[in-house]
Amino acid sequence: MAIQIDGKALAAKVKDRVRSGASTLQRQPGLAVILVGENPASKVYVAGKEKDCAECGIRSFPHKLPAETTQEELMALIQTLNNDPLVDGILCQLPLPEHLSEDAVINAIRPDKDVDCFHPFNVGRLVIGAPVFLPCTPAGVMEMLKEYQISVRGKRCVVLGRSNIVGKPMAMLLTQADGTVTACHSRTEQLSAITREADILVSAIGKTDFVTADMVKEGAVVIDVAMNRNASGKLCGDVDFASVAPKAAYITPVPGGVGPMTRAMLMQNILTAAQMHQA
Ligand code: GUN
Repeated sequence: MAIQIDGKALAAKVKDRVRSGASTLQRQPGLAVILVGENPASKVYVAGKEKDCAECGIRSFPHKLPAETTQEELMALIQTLNNDPLVDGILCQLPLPEHLSEDAVINAIRPDKDVDCFHPFNVGRLVIGAPVFLPCTPAGVMEMLKEYQISVRGKRCVVLGRSNIVGKPMAMLLTQADGTVTACHSRTEQLSAITREADILVSAIGKTDFVTADMVKEGAVVIDVAMNRNASGKLCGDVDFASVAPKAAYITPVPGGVGPMTRAMLMQNILTAAQMHQA
């Protein structure tokens, strides 16, 4: 039976580290959080991030904007926050309402305040192995592997999903940790044959019970990044936990796995930004 990786406990440890780092700074680190519209999931995520900030001694500056906000208004707010010396990080919660360009927002946030690590400058820095910030979810996964002393070097790693936020940067971090990485996606042929080779399997596709026991190698490390809702509205991941857990060596639960780690690594990035700004 797999060891369950406790993301909640590790996130608390990371946040403790951030809090003590923040307490040594002359000025309290600051995060501006922009939420446009009334997306219920986004509201929950933003509330969680504000709570984390409070726990870590980070000041949060909330900007809740109506759904009808124009692109010009949003860009003007980002420019104001770019120039605000009390703001170390800017986070604009995605997705945005249809009429707004996420790409324009990502490009407008000053790279040294881009605590999501979404700006092409920071993505480029990551790809060449000289990151300023780390993308929160993939960094959270790497932190979990480190905590449980799971070595990536030379291991076969399979990532399911190729999003800019999770799949692609996850493959990049595993590559930089000397893993041999296969990036799979919706067009991948003979997927099960590939996943069965994985020593470390990371799933980020957003389909409930997609990863079943027959897709997993005996003794694999299974990391479930997804946050899905099943038919009865319960939060669940991509992995059919009941069938996969007996076969895996390590597994992350949903909830209580990668989710809390993503939030903790955001706090770490805000501290990094504040340290740069106060150096
Ligand atoms: N929406 C879902 N996940 C994220 C995230 O990590 N950052 C932002 N800005 N929006 C999100």
